[in-house]
Amino acid sequence: MTEHVTHVTHPLVQHKLTLMRQRDTSTAVFRQLLREISQLLAYEVTRGLPMTTKRIDTPMEPMDAPVIDGKKLALVSILRAGNGLLDGVLELIPSARVGFVGLYRDEETLKPVQYYFKVPTELEDRLVIAVDPMLATGNSSVAAIDLLKKAGATNIRFLCLLAAPEGIARMREAHPDVPIVTAAIDSHLNENGYIVPGLGDAGDRMFGTK
Ligand code: URA
Repeated sequence: MTEHVTHVTHPLVQHKLTLMRQRDTSTAVFRQLLREISQLLAYEVTRGLPMTTKRIDTPMEPMDAPVIDGKKLALVSILRAGNGLLDGVLELIPSARVGFVGLYRDEETLKPVQYYFKVPTELEDRLVIAVDPMLATGNSSVAAIDLLKKAGATNIRFLCLLAAPEGIARMREAHPDVPIVTAAIDSHLNENGYIVPGLGDAGDRMFGTK
């Protein structure tokens, strides 16, 4: 990927996102839409993967057919909202390896603190796709990518649903080598760090919590 930010403007993605943003969309419908949109975004975030060919037999004759090259890619969910994106992406890439990064915000320092980290082996040989629906301040995304790089990842892409300009700027400063794929770039963050107009708290909306 050559662009730092890819804004996916496909009509299906935009239509589904509008339904997800609406306050009166139920948890069940929100989850279903997230699953569908994740698959469409997975298509975008895997664009340009290295390819090779494999000798196969069709019913007509043998051919050298294209297949994705290299080790199975790694999907890493930034807990907990990342799991909503993860499910849809996994449906499209069922053989991917999966990791999880758990971070919480220390109320005194306001810095992200790691509480869980489990990722596939040989990260250095895989494309790693980190997923989190909301790129808001960028603090947790930057911290998660710091941890992935420390664990050996060198080829990382970041997939989200909504991004705030503040989060994009923070990522560009900290990790200019990590391309971002997003369905929307919203206006700004409010004083509580929520994306405006956004869709509210993505975790609460997908899990039905408050
Ligand atoms: N996380 C969310 O779930 N929503 C936001 O708007 C920002 C961060």
